[in-house]
Amino acid sequence: MTRAEQPTVVSPTSDTLAADSRERAVRALLRVPPLKRLWSAQLVGGIGDALALLVLVLLSLQAAVLEGSFGSGYRGAAFAVAAVFGARILATLLFGAVLLGPLTTLTAPGGPLDRRWLMIGADGLRLALLVVAPLWIDWVPDKALMMILITVFVTGIGERLWTIAKESAAPALLPAPPAEGAAVRPLPDHLDALRRLSLRTDFAAVPAAAAVLLIATLIGNLLGSGLEWFSFHQAALGSYVAAGLFSASISTLYFLELPGSPTPRPRSPLEGLRRPSTADGPDKGRTGAVPLIVGACAAVAGAIAAAAAVAVLHASDLGGGPVTFALLILALTGATGTGIRTAEKVLPTLSRRRLLALATALTGVALLAMGLVPDTATVVFLAVLAGYAAGVAACTGHTLVDQETEEVRRARTTEHLQAVVRVLIALGAVGGPLLAAAIGTHRLTTGDFVFAHGGAAFTLMLIGALLLPVAAIVLARTDDRSGVPLRRDLREALRGGEPAVAPAATGFFLVLEGGDGAGKSTQVEALAEWIRAKGHEVVVTREPGATPVGKRLRSILLDVSSAGLSNRAEALLYAADRAEHVDSLVRPALERGAIVISDRYIDSSVAYQGAGRDLSPTEIARISRWATSGLVPHLTVLLDVDPETARERFTEAPDRLESEPPEFHARVRSGFLTLAAADPTRYLVVDAGQEPESITTVVRHRLDQLLPLSEAEIKAQAEARKAAEDEARRKAEEEAARKAEEERLERERQEQLAKLRAEEEERRRRELEEARQREAERQAEEARRRAEEARRIAEEERVRREAEEQA
Ligand code: TYD
Repeated sequence: MTRAEQPTVVSPTSDTLAADSRERAVRALLRVPPLKRLWSAQLVGGIGDALALLVLVLLSLQAAVLEGSFGSGYRGAAFAVAAVFGARILATLLFGAVLLGPLTTLTAPGGPLDRRWLMIGADGLRLALLVVAPLWIDWVPDKALMMILITVFVTGIGERLWTIAKESAAPALLPAPPAEGAAVRPLPDHLDALRRLSLRTDFAAVPAAAAVLLIATLIGNLLGSGLEWFSFHQAALGSYVAAGLFSASISTLYFLELPGSPTPRPRSPLEGLRRPSTADGPDKGRTGAVPLIVGACAAVAGAIAAAAAVAVLHASDLGGGPVTFALLILALTGATGTGIRTAEKVLPTLSRRRLLALATALTGVALLAMGLVPDTATVVFLAVLAGYAAGVAACTGHTLVDQETEEVRRARTTEHLQAVVRVLIALGAVGGPLLAAAIGTHRLTTGDFVFAHGGAAFTLMLIGALLLPVAAIVLARTDDRSGVPLRRDLREALRGGEPAVAPAATGFFLVLEGGDGAGKSTQVEALAEWIRAKGHEVVVTREPGATPVGKRLRSILLDVSSAGLSNRAEALLYAADRAEHVDSLVRPALERGAIVISDRYIDSSVAYQGAGRDLSPTEIARISRWATSGLVPHLTVLLDVDPETARERFTEAPDRLESEPPEFHARVRSGFLTLAAADPTRYLVVDAGQEPESITTVVRHRLDQLLPLSEAEIKAQAEARKAAEDEARRKAEEEAARKAEEERLERERQEQLAKLRAEEEERRRRELEEARQREAERQAEEARRRAEEARRIAEEERVRREAEEQA
């Protein structure tokens, strides 16, 4: 069997590297029973909360229409919906401003408030509110809307209370870190996994609630055909299901045991907006694109929020009721979630910035069409499209922001992004219905054509239309593929379809990539030295020109006299060099178990010959995969640098490729970044503008989690483990000896005690005996005395009688 035919075996190392490592950390959390319990409560309660909000929207609409507050008809209804979202946001903001501080003190360990009971209380409160919510219309028909808004406000406070208590309780339930000396590798970041789990649960809650509402309203309609009460109270069943969900959350929490733990600082929903003002202003990222990307993400999120907020009005404009509303919410939010989860796989070869612009535009077009089309089924389909595109835009924007910022600043930038997104979601949720109210219903007649639309439809069209310039600005101002027509890129990306690849089963293949002058060779040397010190065999190599044949190819490729070499010939020569390199050098070293560090690999071809030249990146990648039998690195470090900055670093005369114009190098850079964004687990993007030492540190940090252990390390660990075991054994022996000694002493003490007790017994017995003897003697004496006395008396008697006889 030749090497090319060998089945690709996925080694434990590559397994660690596989995209699911974070996924596994999240799933591992659910194997901790109390965390699973808390998580179930969060999921159930979260669905209950979202369901409650949807139900309250429906109830507010019904109340507004019945009582005619806020003015009558369409405007009043739209104002009522805006008021519901406004009340909820007000609750969140007021909670953050007023209640958060005191609550933190009260729920601290040892404080008077128990977190579990706080959660149960918040659930109980919401349960009670939702049981009565559908009845306000009957009880106080002219104040029903007010009561419903109060319900929204209080349930909002309840949700905050629950979440704050949960956030302070959850970290204490994390599995304890292993004892010292036992850890082979740094643990996957539990807290990060916890955050992910929590975020994902929150995300899943809204579509799940919409699905529940859909089912509940369908059943409610069925009941309504028989029972009049249900046909009037269409939202009632949903409200009771929400109450049921809160009671399920209570019963889950009831059996939860919470250990006391330090309370982490709770967060305000606006955290991330108030950033320390630095001299150089807010972080704009490596290429200055961060503000635009954040803006696009927030605009898309706000647009979807606005669409969801007017969905109830639009549903009734379409002639539907609660069922259509639930369907629209499910379509919008469910598709957004799916979009977020699958964004990485959408057109993986397309520049992520272009994808962000495209997805933003698609969201806009779909929303616009939602407002235009008067057919319910089509509107639901368009809602799915809008939601999905928005999810892809959000996730892509997030990835891009991550890529733009260094690891140390990433958390803060992400927080900022999320805060801006939250603000726009809030604005969209309140602004959407307000806009619909302001517009009202309109009827345009042009000849035979009648165009009768409600304010919700106009709002959808307007926000959809607003997203189009946002997409255009993102494309114009952040494009990393200028000079390449978008249409061509798109066609290329749509063709996609990649053959299977896998990293080697043994050894570790590390590749450093980046533009000319990024400082790869310096890093290769520093890393090689560090890895060698761990006791590994390290093979340092490069492309092109690591083999004898490669050297000749390199001189052809880089010699300025080869100017005019055809693009395809250039691509094939690089591939030929790579084939030889992998076959004669890289694979054998990996099979020996060595750590191979290569200065450039396949990505250079994709970036230079694909993105840089006029060739298809997909085809270039395919040629290289064929040349290497699909060998991919375990980790590719991309040293990202602005070509202008890099150019200043050149010390020698530029070679044929270095002499290419700046636009070429800009395209190369974007080619690299696109590859990295498509597979974040296999790439590490580092800002190559920083000090070399800082770069090495960042890379070492990642390698620490990925590199296999060297024999020396395994030996050291085995020794450490043995030492720990010996120590434990010694301790156990000492302990046993101490126990034995204690037992012996105890036995002696008991014996002593028994002896003393026996002596005491003996003494008492003897005393008793003596007393008895004395008594017997006394009695004998007494008897003797009495006998004596009797004898004396008898004698006297005899003497007296003799005397009488003689006398
Ligand atoms: P490199 O060895 O990094 O050059 P230097 O030692 O002068 O820094 O790479 C040589 C050039 O070859 C570089 O400009 C990038 C280019 N190149 C490609 O265009 N395609 C490829 O597949 C590879 C490996 C390199």
